[in-house]
Amino acid sequence: MRALLCHQFSGIDGLVVATDAAAPQPGPGEITVRVRASGMNFLDTLIVSGKYQVKPSFPFSPGAEIAGEVLSVAPDVSRFKPGDRVCAFTYYGGFAETCSAKAAFAWHLPDAIDDVVAAASLITYGTAWFGLADRAQIRPGETCLVLGAAGGVGLAAIQVAKKFGAHVIAGVGSTARMQICRDHGADECIDYSTADFRYQLKLLLSGRPLDVVVDVVGGSVSQTVLRQLAWRGRLLVIGFAAGDIPQLPANFVLLRGIDVLGVVLDGLFQYEPDRAAQMMADLFSAIASGALKPPVTEVLGLEAVPEALVRMARRQAHGKRVVRP
Ligand SMILES: NC(=O)c1ccc[n+]([C@@H]2O[C@H](COP(=O)([O-])OP(=O)(O)OC[C@H]3O[C@@H](n4cnc5c(N)ncnc54)[C@H](OP(=O)(O)O)[C@@H]3O)[C@@H](O)[C@H]2O)c1
Repeated sequence: MRALLCHQFSGIDGLVVATDAAAPQPGPGEITVRVRASGMNFLDTLIVSGKYQVKPSFPFSPGAEIAGEVLSVAPDVSRFKPGDRVCAFTYYGGFAETCSAKAAFAWHLPDAIDDVVAAASLITYGTAWFGLADRAQIRPGETCLVLGAAGGVGLAAIQVAKKFGAHVIAGVGSTARMQICRDHGADECIDYSTADFRYQLKLLLSGRPLDVVVDVVGGSVSQTVLRQLAWRGRLLVIGFAAGDIPQLPANFVLLRGIDVLGVVLDGLFQYEPDRAAQMMADLFSAIASGALKPPVTEVLGLEAVPEALVRMARRQAHGKRVVRP
């Protein structure tokens, strides 16, 4: 089969398109899927460099979320049959014509959601929904600051927070990215790359409580925003795109009654399958009804993936890119 392959942890530069890659067979608890679309995620840039917590054996294809048609199922899998339309969180293997997936991490797709939209939404919208609706229990009228707001999880979080009635401030790394966030529903925007970000955030809030922060950036920005959270504020720890894992001041957590909440989508799928199934049903229904509109900014072939991953790593991309292997 055709696949974009990683032969060693040498980063994006080492990726090559193969035409004779071995197609996977379903192991215990797995299905194989003919990939019609595969979403691009920040984790693709990490996994090919050996910097992600999952380290596949070589050669492997990156590509962490897929949509397509079930080709085969392991004997111990009863939830799916060949021909079913599904999407799945796979960690890797998605930038290929066929991919295997854990059945527990796969979901039947409603007819109203096409493959490209499904591949653009499982990880980003799943994470945003789990974080905001479940972990943070966000309420109408609360103020939510989304960091990395023009990225995949960021734009999803803007839309999900708006859907739940929050007032949304989009945090971005340059003023040029603010309009993208406004187009996706942000009420206000702020640039966290400025030296006086802390002061600017205080000015913007002008006494209003900051209730929830969606943090995919990490580093010093997380430390700054934690100090602005209101009593019973919630910090959603989702990712560290800036590279540094923040050291958070426990005295602020204590004095403000802050909840620091870890949000990891595969954890929900693995440990709470019934809750995950309900969440995915709610999410698909919101997408199918048009209440959420996943932003597909590019649809690419396998050959174009390395260049698009470089742009993502350099903060030159926004929204979501989808690959059609
Ligand atoms: N916990 C989970 O289940 C889960 C699920 C999905 C993603 N994640 C994590 O969440 C993070 C974001 O993922 P994503 O897919 O939304 O990525 P993305 O589309 O690339 O967005 C990341 C955003 O972070 C900002 N950023 C700030 N400093 C950066 C830096 N040094 N390098 C790159 N970007 C930087 C960028 O915006 P500006 O340029 O405007 O600052 C960018 O838009 C990643 O760390 C990912 O691993 C976690």
